[in-house]
Amino acid sequence: MSDFARRLIKWHSVHGRHDMPWQNTRDPYRVWLSEIMLQQTQVATVIPYYERFLARFPTMATLAAAPAESVMGLWSGLGYYARARNLHACAKAVMQEHGGEFPKDAEAIAGLPGIGRSTANSIAAFCFAARTPIMDGNVKRVLTRQFGIEGFPGQPAIERELWALAESLVPNKNVDIYNQAQMDLGSLVCTRSKPRCDACPVAANCVARLQARTAELPTRKEKRVIPEREVTLLMLVQNGKVLLEQRPPSGIWGGMLSLPELPSGLSAAADASDYTKSTLSCTPGKWSSLPLLTHTFTHFRLHISTCRAEVKSRPHAAEGTQRWLAFDELADAPLPAPIRQLLNSSV
Ligand code: ADE
Repeated sequence: MSDFARRLIKWHSVHGRHDMPWQNTRDPYRVWLSEIMLQQTQVATVIPYYERFLARFPTMATLAAAPAESVMGLWSGLGYYARARNLHACAKAVMQEHGGEFPKDAEAIAGLPGIGRSTANSIAAFCFAARTPIMDGNVKRVLTRQFGIEGFPGQPAIERELWALAESLVPNKNVDIYNQAQMDLGSLVCTRSKPRCDACPVAANCVARLQARTAELPTRKEKRVIPEREVTLLMLVQNGKVLLEQRPPSGIWGGMLSLPELPSGLSAAADASDYTKSTLSCTPGKWSSLPLLTHTFTHFRLHISTCRAEVKSRPHAAEGTQRWLAFDELADAPLPAPIRQLLNSSV
C-alpha cells in the first residue's frame, strides 16, 4: 500500500467523519442519492434535503414511480436542477433496464443518467468494495498540493494526469475508507484557504507545504468576465393566488415553476400591461416594483426585476404550462430559491 494511503486510512479512524446520514450503509440507493446531492453542495446544506427526500422516497422503486413535480419540489432550493431531472431518469433506468438492482460495476454505473466517472467510482467503492478512486474538488486539492501538480485541474490534460495518479495510489483494501479520508482531509484540514498543515497526516511529504506554495495550488482557473443578463418577471396576484409558469425542460430552472417572464427587450410597466393582457389574458391593476434581485449561475449573472400587480379580471383559467397557486401552497412547489425568495418577500 502507498504510504499516502496508509497514513490517510489511519488518520481517518480518529479524525475522519463517521456519522453523516449516508454513511454506515452499503445501500446503493442511499449512497447514490447522497453523492448526487453532494455535487456542488456542502454537507451541512445537503443533510436536511437528504433526510426529507429519503422519508418521502425510501426506495428506488418509489422514486421511479413518483411524478416529476414532487421530485423537483423536494429538490427546490438545492440548485443545479439538472441533477434532480437526471436522478429521476436514473431511477427509472435502474427499474426498467436493470431489474431494480443498481449495477455493481463502475463502468455500468457510469452509463446511468447523471453519473460521471467519480460518482460511479465512489458508489462502486462504498457499496461493492471496488478498487476505484474518486476525483472531486477536495481530492483534486489534496493531490495537487501533495504532489505539486501545476495547472488548472479542470483542464483535460491535468485531469488525466490526476486520474492516473489517483489510480496508482488506490490501496488493495479499505478503498471506501481511503476515498472518504481524502474527502474529509480536503474539507477539514487541507482547506482552500489557511490549510491546517500541522494537523495533516501527509504534511511531511507535501510538495506544496515544503515549498510554501499551498496558496498557489491547486492552480486557479484563468479569470473570465462572467456575462450579465437582465430579466423582468411578473408577479400577478388575485385572491391570495399567484400565477406561475412551468419552465421549459432544458435551460435555467428547467422543469421548475417560475414567475412569467417578459420577452427579452420588454421591461416597462406599459410592456408588462400589454403582455399581461395579450398573452396571459389577465387585466392588471396598478404595478409596483419589488427590490432588484441578482442571482449568479455558473455561466452568467442574472439581474431580476419583478413587477407586481393585483389582477382585476381573469377571464380564462390558467392553462398549459400556467397555474394559479395559493401562497400557502408554495412550500411544496418546485420553485428555484430566488423565485421563492421573491414570493416570500411579497406576502
Ligand atoms: N462529497 C461527495 N461525497 C461525499 C461524502 N461521502 N462525504 C462528504 N462529502 C462528499
